[in-house]
Amino acid sequence: LKAGPLAGRRVLVTSGPTHEPIDPVRYIANRSSGAQGTAIARALLGLGADVVFVTGPAEVPPPEGVELVRVESAREMLEAVEAALPVDAAVFAAAVADWRVSSASSSKIKKQAGALPALTFAENPDILATVSQRTAGRPALVVGFAAETDDVEANAAAKRLRKGCDWIVANDVSPATGIMGGTENAVVILSDEGAERWPRMSKELVARRLAERVALALA
Ligand code: C5P
Repeated sequence: LKAGPLAGRRVLVTSGPTHEPIDPVRYIANRSSGAQGTAIARALLGLGADVVFVTGPAEVPPPEGVELVRVESAREMLEAVEAALPVDAAVFAAAVADWRVSSASSSKIKKQAGALPALTFAENPDILATVSQRTAGRPALVVGFAAETDDVEANAAAKRLRKGCDWIVANDVSPATGIMGGTENAVVILSDEGAERWPRMSKELVARRLAERVALALA
């Protein structure tokens, strides 16, 4: 039996990038390593939660002890997230691709002299917004992330309202901060209560403090 303030609580975490297929051997992706999402899942486990970890193809290995669901594309991630409901809280740390190739080829696209493939795109579902705006079975607490390069707080505050989540964890990913791909993070937590600015600290510590905040909110 688990002990801790989140014992008996089921929490969903999404993490990593998504891969959007072009054909059976090619895909479009992004540079998310999955580090922050993995740290959050580990911190939630540490507080006794049952964690459903829905991850795209991440660089860092998933934590042990989670209910692990591996997915590739954004649409698969949405399906896995909806299958994992109901949960008490959901933390959306994945870097979901905004677009997919609208008609991925079922066979490898052949290279042809003088001809370039023309890819067209379709918009992916917004998983955070979809879950936040559910009328039935919405988690009591929904947390999103916002990686911004300018007007961090204003953009993140607008994003929180647009998506309908409870909290947004906002950070400045301008190259000068060294946060993207680094081991530290400096975040602002936006909620109905306003903005809470945390000093720069390790991503592990951000994860632990966030997990504690989740435990307090569910208490
Ligand atoms: O709109 P933007 O991508 O900046 O929003 C970031 C937040 O939304 C993150 O929490 C991310 O996990 C979530 N998201 C999502 N599905 C998408 C796009 C973003 O869940 N298709």
